[in-house]
Amino acid sequence: MNEESDRKVVRGLKDVAAAETRISYVDPKGYLYYLGYNIDDLVGRVTYTEVAYLLIHKRLPNRQELDEFCTDLVSEMKLPNAMVRCIWDTPGHVHPMDVLRTEVSRLGEYDVEKNDLSEAANLRRATRLIAQVPTIVATLHRSRIGQPVPVPRKDFGFAENFLYMFKGHPPKEDEADVLHRLLILHADHGFNASTFAARVTASTNADMYSAVTTAIGTLRGPLHGGASEKVMDMLNDIGLEKYVDEYIQGLLDEKMKIMGFGHRVYMAEDPRTKHLRGIVENLCHHKRTLDLYNKCIKIEGIVHERKNIYPNLDFYAAVAMDAMGVPKEFFTPFFTSSRIAGWVAHTIEQYEDAVLLRPSSKYVGEFGRTFVPIEER
Ligand code: SDX
Repeated sequence: MNEESDRKVVRGLKDVAAAETRISYVDPKGYLYYLGYNIDDLVGRVTYTEVAYLLIHKRLPNRQELDEFCTDLVSEMKLPNAMVRCIWDTPGHVHPMDVLRTEVSRLGEYDVEKNDLSEAANLRRATRLIAQVPTIVATLHRSRIGQPVPVPRKDFGFAENFLYMFKGHPPKEDEADVLHRLLILHADHGFNASTFAARVTASTNADMYSAVTTAIGTLRGPLHGGASEKVMDMLNDIGLEKYVDEYIQGLLDEKMKIMGFGHRVYMAEDPRTKHLRGIVENLCHHKRTLDLYNKCIKIEGIVHERKNIYPNLDFYAAVAMDAMGVPKEFFTPFFTSSRIAGWVAHTIEQYEDAVLLRPSSKYVGEFGRTFVPIEER
């Protein structure tokens, strides 16, 4: 047998370790670590800004470093005027993830130190992207409702400014707390598809904007970050809780995937789910929409009973963002506004790893076909 027929394909690269990383560890037994910290020790105890600092600087900041980082981020929450005009001119039917993919790519045109690929320049670039991605999201949403985006306030933190710029009014304390938790839970997750895509791009020594643009395009897919929007569609389609069983069974009978459920790595419950479920329970309690929460619990139970799978990040994140007044087409942009921190951290780590990510393939096509000139075909 020739070597090609011996070659073993690992479908979907399942369980294939493509490179080493120190940024996050996704434990199939249901644990998640950022730079060695269990996320359960971070959520509710640190701000998203601290986690973003941790991801790109590989350690938690002290108070002075955090204040300086936050000041840097807030000062970078601005876009070139030409770019704001492009965002306002984008037709309303264009999905926000498509606008985000285009505008992040455009950001590269304004990088005055574009040819400086030093670690220091990349850390500055990473900080700018962590600040500008949410700014693009907020600017786009405001343009869609015909409202200008507020100028970030120096007396607000970074996440608070994101919410302020998105909603147009100062966030309430509990809203900001929920956003910090959501952003922390979305910040990084091993070699998920979009992060791996960013690393493949970075492995060719392409610039950080190219790597992040690749990642945004990848996150967009409904099997990945695009699932949260589909979760909301499903919850709306189901209607009353009493229809859950029939609806879910109908999807399974059609061999359809239940959006917001299942995971490539976790064999137990996604460790982020308990935090998100708790956020949703609190939000539904305060908004007197506990029937929605109970419907979610019912869906969880039926899907687990029928397919032995658990809710992933996107299931309860969708309900939380909806409860915060985020339009569903902005759910994945919100995911992006956090995962940008993980993507830039992995991009820098890939530059440090300095190896081209180029797998082989198993050729199963034909050999030795006889060429026939077009006149005789
Ligand atoms: C994210 O990778 C990451 O870390 C991603 C992420 C991150 O933080 O970056 O965690 C974020 O993207 C979460 C995933 C969001 N996507 C969805 O919710 C879409 C629905 N989920 C599925 O498409 C699926 O679970 C995947 C894509 C998430 C994982 O798919 P796998 O690992 O390729 O598993 P599979 O499709 O081969 O399914 C294995 C079995 C099959 O059953 P059998 O045919 O063998 O009987 O599990 C079943 C599947 O039918 N299954 C599902 C299911 N997920 C798996 N059945 C119904 N609904 C589902 N959601």
